[in-house]
Amino acid sequence: MKVLVATNNKHKLEEISAILNKMGVELQSLSDIGLDIEVDETGETFLENALLKAREVEAITGSIVIADDSGLEVMALDGRPGVNSARYSGYSGIDKDAKNREKLLEEMKNVPDEKRNARFCTVIAAVMPDGRELTAEGFVYGRIGRAEVGTNGFGYDSLFIVDGYDKTMAELDPEVKNSISHRANALKSFEIQFRELLQS
Ligand code: IMP
Repeated sequence: MKVLVATNNKHKLEEISAILNKMGVELQSLSDIGLDIEVDETGETFLENALLKAREVEAITGSIVIADDSGLEVMALDGRPGVNSARYSGYSGIDKDAKNREKLLEEMKNVPDEKRNARFCTVIAAVMPDGRELTAEGFVYGRIGRAEVGTNGFGYDSLFIVDGYDKTMAELDPEVKNSISHRANALKSFEIQFRELLQS
């Protein structure tokens, strides 16, 4: 069975295929089918955005479609950058992740250590051609450091000190990150529901 993943992000495709390949599902990306589409993430929550992307790509292709949305929620900033994590600094160029981290450090500079709690969140959605849908969410908890540490990963990883590790996401081995991440946790719950959906 073929399933289309509504992303061209290599990291995400690898993580999602590692799980779904076990179920005998063959994943395709948008570029695999030559579809060049950028769905506007106009939702106010990760759940709305994941469903928005999956529904739009299903409507165009008629395939089973999986989409996700993720980001960083900082408690001292009332959950920001949240759904705007990718666009937080307003830059869209190649160095946008670095600009986002710079802005976060600046906004957090007067926040004391005990109030720097944060979490990464992912929501994964699947939309079937017959209209059935499922969603799964996952989190990883930690706190925002005062400077960048580590070189692995992407996005906010070098600022996010993971609970229980005392290291940033960017210091963890990729295999460790991939086993404890918000995306891994969402995928665990997604896998169970997706199996049931395919069998029903
Ligand atoms: P999206 O799910 O591709 O829209 O991701 C939104 C943004 O959230 C990314 O551009 C990153 O800035 C941030 N983000 C999502 N997942 C991670 C992660 O695992 N590590 C670091 N940053 C992340």
